Amino acid sequence: MKLQNDLLLRAARGEATQRPPVWLMRQAGRILAEYRAVRREAGSFINLVTNPELAAEVTIQPVDILGVDAAIIFSDILVIPEAMGLPYEMVEQRGPNFPEVIRKASDLSRLRTADPHRDLSYVLDAIKITKSRLNGRVPLIGFAGAPFTIFCYMTEGRGSKTFSEAKKILYSDPELAHQLIGMITDSTIAYLKAQIAAGADLVQVFDSWAGILSPQQYETYALPYLRRICEAITEVPVTIFAKGAFFAREAIGRLPCSVVGLDWNMDIAESKALIPGKTLQGNLDPCVLYASYEQIRRETKNMLTAYGAHPFIANLGHGVYPDTDPDKVRCFIDTVKEHAAMLH
Ligand code: CP3
Repeated sequence: MKLQNDLLLRAARGEATQRPPVWLMRQAGRILAEYRAVRREAGSFINLVTNPELAAEVTIQPVDILGVDAAIIFSDILVIPEAMGLPYEMVEQRGPNFPEVIRKASDLSRLRTADPHRDLSYVLDAIKITKSRLNGRVPLIGFAGAPFTIFCYMTEGRGSKTFSEAKKILYSDPELAHQLIGMITDSTIAYLKAQIAAGADLVQVFDSWAGILSPQQYETYALPYLRRICEAITEVPVTIFAKGAFFAREAIGRLPCSVVGLDWNMDIAESKALIPGKTLQGNLDPCVLYASYEQIRRETKNMLTAYGAHPFIANLGHGVYPDTDPDKVRCFIDTVKEHAAMLH
């Protein structure tokens, strides 16, 4: 099916576009009353994620309500640990929890490499339903967590500021770390390929906890595995978003991916110089959306000006916060849409 709006894909390939495409990480979620209504109907987050009809419905909501240039499939990065044999719970007001965790080599026997068709068919079905209902209006983004970030959750068992249990393993049992991160990588490649076969037009890898590693550890435990993913996914553009990994921008820029995501700590001018020849994505501070409309327009324009003629995809520097006013989100989106194209 031919896409009516292919701005995202053209920008990802580094092609000139009439205007930059815009979408938001975590756009399908609690900022929308319409999401909260479907979420209530589902009863729990996991019920919503595993119900392809409802997942497709909330995936499309931001396209209809906010006017973004892409949909991102409604799911979570934690479906991979579950598919590998480590189920998660989502505790209201607190976040994810894994009743069992991986801490020693013998724990690996509980795990298998995920088979997306057996273990994640609900995501693949949600993608197929979404693609059919979008009917070519905008591209659909598939996603997965980066291997190191998934390793963090599988070993720590819950969110953490430091992920010190996860990092302890890097120091005490590097072999276990490599084995587990390798298994996660194999599962992730199979999963992303299945998402693409089901209809995903671009895939993004979220390395949300990249920023807790030293540059040397990022080199050892993250980059080789991201490289394996990028080399395996040749069907569609790949975006690597490594939150907090300002120190690894040059190395990430050398990966065979199409797009590099920036958070708001990363200066755009500096990032353009460090990551030549790649499309960039981001990076407005999500907290700007708490400011006045005037300030939102000003900060958004500053971001657009900083990119100038460099190919980019407008986005926030991380997921939108749940208590953000959707009208403020619309102000950000409209400001990007009004931005005149600059020739590359
Ligand atoms: O971007 C989108 O709109 C698609 C949906 C999406 C969700 N999670 C839905 C979700 C995406 C892309 C994710 C990715 C994800 N999940 C990441 C990587 C991105 C990032 O933010 O760094 C991470 C680290 C997770 C793990 C996760 N899921 C946590 C830590 C939490 C709890 C914190 C929170 O935001 O509530 C979740 C829950 C979650 N995932 C919610 C949503 C909409 C909220 C739960 C609810 O609606 O009840």
